[in-house]
Parts: sequence; structure tokens; C-alpha cells
Amino acid sequence: MAVLRWGIIGPGRISTRIVRALASSSRGTLAAVASRDADRAAAYASRHGVGRSFGSYDELLASSEIDVVYIALPNHLHAQWTIRALEAGKHVLCEKPLALTVEDVDAIQAAARMTGRIAVEAFMYLHHPQILRALEVAGDGLLGPLELILGTFSFLLSTPDDPRIDPAMGGGSLWDVGCYPVSFARRLAGEEPDRVAAFARLDERGVDRTFIGQLHFPSGLLAQFDSGFRASDRESFEIVGQAGRLVLDSPFVPAPDGPRPVVTLWRGRVREQITVPSMDQYRAEVEDLTGAILDGTPPRVSLDFSRGTIATLVDLDLAARSTG
Ligand SMILES: NC(=O)c1ccc[n+]([C@@H]2O[C@H](COP(=O)([O-])OP(=O)(O)OC[C@H]3O[C@@H](n4cnc5c(N)ncnc54)[C@H](OP(=O)(O)O)[C@@H]3O)[C@@H](O)[C@H]2O)c1
Repeated sequence: MAVLRWGIIGPGRISTRIVRALASSSRGTLAAVASRDADRAAAYASRHGVGRSFGSYDELLASSEIDVVYIALPNHLHAQWTIRALEAGKHVLCEKPLALTVEDVDAIQAAARMTGRIAVEAFMYLHHPQILRALEVAGDGLLGPLELILGTFSFLLSTPDDPRIDPAMGGGSLWDVGCYPVSFARRLAGEEPDRVAAFARLDERGVDRTFIGQLHFPSGLLAQFDSGFRASDRESFEIVGQAGRLVLDSPFVPAPDGPRPVVTLWRGRVREQITVPSMDQYRAEVEDLTGAILDGTPPRVSLDFSRGTIATLVDLDLAARSTG
């Protein structure tokens, strides 16, 4: 059986989720890690039992022993390293947001076409059974025609020199966590919004710390979300139809990294709990890309879908800045 050899670029906080996912994957193995610092890479490799470490990202890309690269760098580096990895002949799983401009997504799509390699944005939550079930329930018409979508994702960020609040590194709660409810709303709508509106609380460097946004879809469906760095952990998602509504208590980071997923179907005042299995969504994300590479199945998060997400985020950011 073919086994894909993975390399990590950017051994930070989130990369350990992919270490965990690969540890239980039957068709993937973690072969190498690269840091800008050779000692840091070696320490990470020894801590996580990774066979090889590199003191630069380019060295990992040059290795013939790597098939897939997981890019877990700060936001402003995603597009450039995704393109470099594709050009080095690697498949890519890149953290969200895939890019900060639509032009950069287009460049990634062009590089993927040219090299025949696959690049996927790491929206792990889209692989969780609770999200697949929610899409099914909404798609089956159980909620009636969809009327409104409401989403929330925020946490308290208190580190002063964090890339997530650096304007030069794609900082801001919209790009960091607002991208989750925005992408989920678009997935449900099955089309792109034709109008957006937004307000943001910007800090002294012009980075949004709290954001509220609204999307209007051509069908008439409305979506509203908020994201933020100044409120303790909040996440929820509600899909409101004319005949019922579906509520997800932990739509984006459920167990094993958050609370057990709870999905509730409300019809009038009658409440029904929908049972969904708990599973490691990072593992599901790895398996999805593995299937795309080895079996030719379409990846669940296509580059066209990512393009729509980035276009919407750019529009929302602009809308918030133009409303002052
Ligand atoms: N899908 C998810 O669940 C999830 C969750 C959290 C974050 N994320 C995304 O994952 C990405 C990384 O987040 P993280 O929380 O893991 O970040 P992090 O802990 O800050 O790690 C980022 C890594 O990037 C490398 N790096 C390269 N240039 C850098 C620079 N100029 N400044 C800082 N670090 C730099 C660093 O490794 P070396 O210096 O050792 O090379 C660092 O370890 C972000 O894009 C974020 O949006 C996704």
C-alpha cells in the first residue's frame, strides 16, 4: 500500500495536530520537519519522533523524500510557500486563510494546474461528521427553505507580539477566526454573497480585534457572524429555516480539542438531539487529502471554494474599513 511522506513547515502550536493525525494514519507518515532554525527543528523532531529535521524550509522542499507539505506559517507566508512547495513537486495542505488576496489564490491555482499537484486549505472543521450532517439536514429540506445563518467564533488573545495581531502578517480576528463562520455560511448557501456589510473595532495598528459582518446571497439568504480576540472562548452556529433550525454548540473546535459536539434540531418548541460521532477532524482532513492524492477523489475543500472564501474576507475587511 502506498504511504505518503509528509513534511511540516512551521513547527508552531497548530502543527502538533497534524503530528497527532499522522500518528494514526495508515497511508501517511511524518518524515521531516523544517524550521528557520536548525536547533528548533531538531528539538521538535526529537520531541515528536520525526526522522529528519531541516534548518530551512527550502531544504525540506528540495528533499526527494517528501511527498506532501503541511504549511503552518503565519498568514502572510501561506501563498508564497504553497506556490514554492507546488513548484518543488509537493502536494500541499496549507493552513487557513490560504492567502490574503484573490490574486494570490489565482497564482496558487495556476501553480497547481502547471505542476499537476494538489493544494488544499486546511479548514479541518469542514471534515467533521457534525458539519457533514448539518449540511445534509439543511440540504434535505428538513429545516424548510433557509432564511438566516448566524455564527460566532472568538477567544481571548493576550500575547502582545503575536502574528495574529500583526498588520504586516495578515493579522486580525476576521482572518484568524472569522474565516470559519464565513466559509461555513458560503458552504451552506452554495453560492457567493453578492453584498456584504461589516463593522470592526480596530486597534492602534489598524488590526481588527472584534468584527461583525453580514452577507447577502443572491437567493435572498442572509448570514451574520462575529469574530474576536477580546472575548473568552465562544463558538456557535445556527442555521435557521422556515420550518426549523439547527444549532451547533462547538462547530469549529469540538472534542478532542474542545467540547463534545452537540447538534440540536429545533422544530417549533420541540427539541431533538442529533447524535454525531466524536472524531479527530485533523485526521479526517489528512485522510481527505490522502484520498485526493492516492485515489483521485476530489478534495472536500477545493481551490475554487477557497477563492470564494478569500474574496468574501477581502470584501468584508474593506467594508469594515470604509464604514470607519
Ligand atoms: N486549523 C486550525 O485549527 C488552526 C489553529 C490555529 C492556527 N491555525 C493557523 O495556522 C497558522 C500557524 O498558527 P500557529 O498558531 O501554529 O502559529 P505559531 O505557533 O506562531 O507558529 C508559526 C510558525 O511559523 C514559523 N514562522 C516563520 N516565519 C515566522 C515569523 N515571521 N513570525 C513567526 N513565526 C514564523 C515559526 O517556526 P520557525 O521559526 O521555527 O520556522 C512558527 O513556529 C496560522 O496561519 C493560523 O491561522 C490553524
